[in-house]
Amino acid sequence: MATQDLDESSITDAVLARMRRAKSARFKKVIGSLVRHLHDFAREVELTEAEWEYGIDFLTRTGQKCDDKRQEFILLSDTLGLSTLLTQMNHRSKGGETEQTVWGPFHRVKTPKFPLGANISEKVRGAPCFVNITIRDAKGKPVKGAIVDVWHSDDDGFYDVQHKAWNGAMRMRGIFNPDDEGRVWFRTILPTAYPVPTDGPVGELLKASARHPMRPAHMHFLVEAPGYDRLVTHVFNAGDEYLDSDAVFGVRKSLVRTYEKHKAGVAPDGTRMRKDFYTLEYDFVLRPVRRSKAR
Ligand SMILES: [Fe+2]
Repeated sequence: MATQDLDESSITDAVLARMRRAKSARFKKVIGSLVRHLHDFAREVELTEAEWEYGIDFLTRTGQKCDDKRQEFILLSDTLGLSTLLTQMNHRSKGGETEQTVWGPFHRVKTPKFPLGANISEKVRGAPCFVNITIRDAKGKPVKGAIVDVWHSDDDGFYDVQHKAWNGAMRMRGIFNPDDEGRVWFRTILPTAYPVPTDGPVGELLKASARHPMRPAHMHFLVEAPGYDRLVTHVFNAGDEYLDSDAVFGVRKSLVRTYEKHKAGVAPDGTRMRKDFYTLEYDFVLRPVRRSKAR
């Protein structure tokens, strides 16, 4: 195909033709489709050069905002609904298993491991919350060898990484191995609703869209076990005012639970509590790895 004197419609086929020797069929499909949609998008809105420059600057700043503690691109994907679209496409529910939802930008690697019953929020201000969960398969049998990674925000709606004074210390997060019955229990504090970070390009986008940045209160859970699909999910607090307008579109009805409030007294782990406390219970059901994937 001649590639001189291309016009605003022939440019698309010219770019696609230039990729025809690419070895990977999947690459050609994905990038080819991206080129077609990108060109169609520019044609549909008659993108101006000033808007294109703004877009390049926006994406540049999005990348510059990322480091080992902040992931502005994931936040952009989350707030544009792309993360939820991908989650839904890649984990179509067959019924029974716990639904997946977005990762969010605050998961950290090298999270400390705790024994069952530990307090993952020592010295952090907040209402005590005792969590009891189980990890089972669809038949109700405990899943062996599971790893449960939990993380959540504090009483002010911040994650540990957002507290500059904490110097990278890990709090309100931990990894547990369930007991033989598939149970995990630990103590922490009640998470609250929080705004996604708005001091970067994503905040700019939300403001221009007249959208609030809030997420309803939740705990994040990542559950991995040999022979089962990795589960990335949250448990939201019932009654939260942002359940219907989560800034990252992550709420599923099946993931909403009441964090029960209790008067001062004896906590589930036997501790005598002098102030009111909360409890959360949830049964996670894992889905076996599909056969084609297991081979
Ligand atoms: Fe979160």
